[in-house]
This record gives sequence, C-alpha cells and structure tokens, in this order.
Amino acid sequence: MGDNVRLDKYLSSQLNVSRNDAKKLLRGGSVTVNGTVTKKGDVSVKPYEDTVAVSGHTLEYKKYIYIMQHKPKGVVSASVSPSDVTVIDILPEELRRSGLFPAGRLDKDTTGFVLITDDGEFAHNILSPSHHVEKTYLAETGEILTDDDIKRFLDGMKVGEDVFRPAGIKFMEKHGDNYVYEVKICEGRYHQIRRMFASCGKPLLELSRIKIGELSLSEDLLPGQSREISPDELKKIREKSL
Ligand code: URA
Repeated sequence: MGDNVRLDKYLSSQLNVSRNDAKKLLRGGSVTVNGTVTKKGDVSVKPYEDTVAVSGHTLEYKKYIYIMQHKPKGVVSASVSPSDVTVIDILPEELRRSGLFPAGRLDKDTTGFVLITDDGEFAHNILSPSHHVEKTYLAETGEILTDDDIKRFLDGMKVGEDVFRPAGIKFMEKHGDNYVYEVKICEGRYHQIRRMFASCGKPLLELSRIKIGELSLSEDLLPGQSREISPDELKKIREKSL
C-alpha cells in the first residue's frame, strides 16, 4: 500500500527534522530498516510495510496529520504572519511538521475549533460547499432575532453583493442579557456569520465554532490547546453531509 519513499525523506517528515539532520542521523547508525542498520538516505522504503526504527523505537508512519485546535481570541488562522501570532505558532512541539496549514479561517476574534493539517485534498473537501460539510457555531448577540430575521437565515440571505446559501439557525439560550444562537453553514465566506447578523441589525458580540461535520470540539481542550485527531474522529467529519 502507498508509494515508496526515500529513507531520508521519510525520516525528515516523520521526525519533523530537516533532510540534512535526517542524513546525520543515518550516518550515526541509529536507524534500522526491518532490523538492519541502514546509513544511506537514498534507500527506498515502503512506508506501510517496512519497519523503520530510530534508536530501537519503531516509527508509526503517518502520511498526513490532522489536528484539532481550540483557537483563542487574538490568534490568526494563517500559517505565517509578519505581525500576529498564528494557529501554527501555538502548536506544541510534538505536533509540528512542515507543510501544516489551517483548513479554513476563523476571524481573529472568533474562538473554537480549527482543523490544522498538511493534507491539501482533505482540506479542499471539507471546505468546498459542494461537499456539504457543516460548520456549527455559537453566536451571541445583544438582541433577539425576529421571525423575519430567522427566515432570511433559513432561505439564504443576500448581504451586499453576496448571496449566502441557506443556513441552519436555532435559539439556544439566554446568556445574561444576551441571546445565543446555534448557526450551521457549509460555506466559509469572509466574516460570513458576523455579516449575516449585522445585516439583520444585530451585531455579534461573540462567535465560536463548536463542530466540523459531526466532530465536536473536545470540551477538555482549553483555549490555545491542540491535539491530534484520530482516524475514527476523522470519519465523523467526512461522513457528515446535509
Ligand atoms: N463567520 C464569521 O463571521 N467569522 C468566522 O470566524 C467564521 C464564520
């Protein structure tokens, strides 16, 4: 299963080290392939069949990585930024590898579930509206939505030049003097939910993403924390369609 990979490339991707450092490791004699010490980087390995070990520890090959992050306020959904802290900057060391990016953007002030991966095709599939992967948000506003407002969400609303697809909307609870709504959308247009509420004359006070597809943000993940998504959890994202 899968393509063959050069050993130095394999080590560099799985250990999150440069290709040069992978070569140094090989020269040091601590890498084995199927139990045999291997010093050459250009040796070809079958990632899912060959057993590669470093200092006796077998590596579990992962072609791609999928991370759930609880984004705090003030952090930007980008891979790099000249001025702001990014969702990649706050990843713990053990989850870092090259090529990671957030699959979809939350505004700087929005909190909640950001999915970070290095799998471009997966990201495209969950972001493209045609794949109908719902994103669920909690939106807090100071004023209650009218029946006409709700109808605009459900019918698909025109805001400026944009026409948004029909969205799910449900009143959840009062939070002090404010009103909390659950909003479900399959698109990810710029400031979409903020603009939908503002267009009804009810500017948002807080916005948080709580779910992608059928995968909820873990309650025990504090703002700023990240963890890897398991293969079973990943299916929950992919399988959900409207
Ligand atoms: N809609 C918004 O307005 N902002 C977000 O961050 C996500 C959806």
